[in-house]
Amino acid sequence: MKKHYQDKNECRICGSHRLMKYFDFGPMPLVNRYVSGEEGAERIPLAVMFCEDCANSQLSVVVDPYFMFSNYLYHSSVSKTFKEHCAAMALDLQERLNRGSLRCLDIASNDGCLLKEFQKKGFETVGVDPAQNLCEIARQGGIRTICSLWGDAAAEEVIKEFGKVDVVTATNVFAHVDDTHAFVAAVSRVLTDEGVFVVEFPYMGNLIKYHEFDTIYHEHVSYFLARPLVQLFKMHKMDVCDLKEFPDIHGGSLRLYVVKEQNRTIARRPKRVETFLKDEADAGLHTIGPYQGLDTRANKLRTDFAGLLDDLRGKNKKVAGYGASAKGNVFVNFCGIDRRDLLFIVDDTVAKQGFCSPGTDIPIVSQKRLYEELPDYLVILAWNFSEEIMNKTREFRERGGKYIIAIPEVRIV
Ligand code: TYD
Repeated sequence: MKKHYQDKNECRICGSHRLMKYFDFGPMPLVNRYVSGEEGAERIPLAVMFCEDCANSQLSVVVDPYFMFSNYLYHSSVSKTFKEHCAAMALDLQERLNRGSLRCLDIASNDGCLLKEFQKKGFETVGVDPAQNLCEIARQGGIRTICSLWGDAAAEEVIKEFGKVDVVTATNVFAHVDDTHAFVAAVSRVLTDEGVFVVEFPYMGNLIKYHEFDTIYHEHVSYFLARPLVQLFKMHKMDVCDLKEFPDIHGGSLRLYVVKEQNRTIARRPKRVETFLKDEADAGLHTIGPYQGLDTRANKLRTDFAGLLDDLRGKNKKVAGYGASAKGNVFVNFCGIDRRDLLFIVDDTVAKQGFCSPGTDIPIVSQKRLYEELPDYLVILAWNFSEEIMNKTREFRERGGKYIIAIPEVRIV
């Protein structure tokens, strides 16, 4: 079989080779790649390393992005929570830039979830996304979309077809990018001198604090703190002029507002950025210490979860899952569980239904099955959407069902 990954021995922020491995899953399947039974899931090494020079964390391998992203079944619009977050971002940018009309580019625009909210505000929009299937959906929804991975060629196409932009957004994509320097250079190229680059990603400080080890998978080649990114943008003559935390988005996200050094039109909040960097340092996150305990905590979670499943099996209870998220698929693989442990996983993404959770034999099904089989317990694998999923499954609860959430600690809700 063709090898779809390469080793990575150099820090993608500062170029250092002083990388220390602190978490190793061993070979894991690609958790967003849904394949039919006969093809089988390819297993690829999955380990995280800490850069002793700039404090960035990154995987020890890089998987070919075309292999992972050219047909992508993650649809941003499935989550109401995320749609509301997008609407709030549109309002934030309108107030922050305080200009008549804005020209906006969204990188990895998925099904057009964010750009739809921008359009409601009257912004002019263009999206870039490498997944053919998602580009089609976005275009059908009236969102102009260029089908491409982000980089110099895509930037040129945007400038040619659309012109330079006032706003570039990149939510939940930057951590997927191997060549961060080429990515930022292309952003800088497409952005007007008075524009702003808004980048948002799950924050590494939260991964460590809340034991979110299941958010580690091949797509996420980096796990960002603020410090290495401030350093990266500086190398491209850009400043982080403000930041904002979102505790409820993807296990706790950080948004950076980045501008060109010469930009004088946008309000800067250097104090806020400095305080954040200081808090990060005070929490020890710029040293290897806090990272080294992650595997012990993950192993304890696995033992606790296995113990709970054993206990429930002993009582003849039926258990299923909800949310075939990438993190859910990591979790079931890490715990080594199969359909004898979890009957099925419900996911509302129609495109995922009919497949199995990659690397396992657990089928992904629609909500209909939940009410047909009525398990006693539902493991909320997409724990970042617990509230939304509980609201959606009220009938399950009313008929006596209970929930299990495993992160940051295994508990019955
Ligand atoms: P998510 O946690 O956003 O991301 P990741 O794949 O990066 O871990 O995935 C959430 C999954 O849960 C996604 O497959 C959609 C599904 N989902 C539902 O099926 N119903 C819902 O109500 C919500 C909120 C999510």
